[in-house]
Amino acid sequence: MPETFSKLHPCTFFFLFTLLFLSNNLASAKSNGFSNILSPKKLGLGREKLSHLHFYFHDIVSGRNPTAVRVASAATTNKSKTGFGGVAMVDDPLTEAPERNSKLVGKAQGIYASAAQDEVGLLMVMNFAFMEGKYNGSSLSLLGRNCVFSTVREMPIVGGSGLFRFARGYAQAKTHTVDLKSGDAVVEYNVYVFHY
Ligand SMILES: *[C@@H]1O[C@H](CO)[C@@H](O)[C@H](O)[C@H]1NC(C)=O
Ligand SMILES: *[C@@H]1O[C@H](CO)[C@@H](O)[C@H](O)[C@H]1NC(C)=O
Repeated sequence: MPETFSKLHPCTFFFLFTLLFLSNNLASAKSNGFSNILSPKKLGLGREKLSHLHFYFHDIVSGRNPTAVRVASAATTNKSKTGFGGVAMVDDPLTEAPERNSKLVGKAQGIYASAAQDEVGLLMVMNFAFMEGKYNGSSLSLLGRNCVFSTVREMPIVGGSGLFRFARGYAQAKTHTVDLKSGDAVVEYNVYVFHY
């Protein structure tokens, strides 16, 4: 009995050889101009890194120079206790420290919209456009759910550009201060991303 196990049937050899031949052929398939397979090295990609970014997000809705403005709403938005259907476009400063006049490291550019009826839950779709040092010109894209009255809100980072190509990770947002009268808020962000 053990004999039959230790001997490979000639058919098995033939099968393995064919498989090898086919897979080799597939790997070296010529580019048809539309797509081809690259090695990461060819794109200049080295080792994947994990970065932590820390900054403060200033959402200024009041005064003469708001950085967040409502651009759309539903007929029922003002009657909704959560402002459901309201959409704001933002170009919010990102700074190194909580103070508005501390060093500017970038801008959060995009949209937040009230997407929940039973609690204040925002759909966040925005790019963090960085300006600081080597990150100047690079960006991260965030897409997530922001229940602003929760202590810490976690939102996915779904991509990036420049130094953040192939980025993926998450952002944790924590309200630093909020002026309930004006609606202006400062939010602390901790972002963790894998990128090349
Ligand atoms: C809702 O309220 C805002 C601010 O008070 C106002 O500018 C807007 O016109 C109102 N929208 C509707 C549909 O009533
Ligand atoms: C960032 O890059 C832009 C355009 O390349 C340049 O004008 C600007 O001075 C740079 N900012 C910083 C802080 O390095």
